[in-house]
Amino acid sequence: MSTLLHRPRRLRRTAAMRAMTREVTLSPAHFIHPLFVHEEAADTPIKTMPGVVRHSYDSAVQAARTAWELGIQSVILFGIPRDKDEVGSGAYAQDGVVQQATRAIKAALPGMTVIADTCLCEYTSHGHCGRLCEVSGVWTVDNDPTLDLLARTAVSQAQAGADIVAPSSMMDGQVAAIRAALDAAGFTHVPVMSYAVKYASAYYGPFREAAGSAPSQGDRSSYQMDASGGHREALREARLDVAEGADYLMVKPALAYLDVIKLLRDEFDLPLITYNVSGEYALVKAAALAGFMDERRTVLETLTGMHRAGADAIITYHAIDAARWLKGS
Ligand code: PBG
Ligand code: ZN
Repeated sequence: MSTLLHRPRRLRRTAAMRAMTREVTLSPAHFIHPLFVHEEAADTPIKTMPGVVRHSYDSAVQAARTAWELGIQSVILFGIPRDKDEVGSGAYAQDGVVQQATRAIKAALPGMTVIADTCLCEYTSHGHCGRLCEVSGVWTVDNDPTLDLLARTAVSQAQAGADIVAPSSMMDGQVAAIRAALDAAGFTHVPVMSYAVKYASAYYGPFREAAGSAPSQGDRSSYQMDASGGHREALREARLDVAEGADYLMVKPALAYLDVIKLLRDEFDLPLITYNVSGEYALVKAAALAGFMDERRTVLETLTGMHRAGADAIITYHAIDAARWLKGS
């Protein structure tokens, strides 16, 4: 008989013993369910994201209800307008897609937290996250004039009943501009969930196909962050947003940036969100459909890792499935 004093396996012998000291517990209340909404009467499938659709208003309400019944208490809305223009007017229209979907969901489910993604890329004809200008012969997004449009978007979303606005354009000063505009319009109670640390990522590919928001020229590297940037840049971006009045911080994408989640968790005391993005969903979905991996176990393990890294809440296209699996069905 060996005389090993320390045997960690003693604590793993039965399922009940493993459960007793489990530290990281996922709950549907930690999930934020993303919904794509378009101005059409019928849902349409998204070929790069099996199981996800572009919803009509009615079907968005239905999907929100399904989520609510499973214990998911927040949704984030992305609008796909019929018409686009150079300045993304649809984003700040009173009857814009997100505004109408927000009203419909809040009317049906007043307790549901509705988060409005605040950006222009789904509404601009060129697909960039703001209005364009030419600097030294190169077209780029004009930062400060874009801030006014983002602020108008956030106010119109709050007027429609959005509980939280979530600016995702990576313009400098966007949190401050939105905070000031919300306050001036009487929405001091509406928090800003800042996509503070958002990388220029190949993992957004399926989303851009879903939302028709791929830039027609160039890419987003002059405003979204470089994946090879280090921790100092991530801290600086987060610190600026905290100083501007952000109420929540976000790291996006999640999987390739778990170190950044942990970094922000340790450095800041604001609630931290991560976005388990479209490409991360597509990878798992494709492998599962091919029979290469067990979808349920893979998804729950991945979401647990994000939560363990320090994300309080996770925006995930797996939300409904994961909530069902957690309930054991
Ligand atoms: C728009 C926006 C994007 C995502 C969320 N908001 C796309 C982008 O920046 O191109 C990506 C989400 C996903 O991939 O699931 N600014
Ligand atoms: Zn955008």
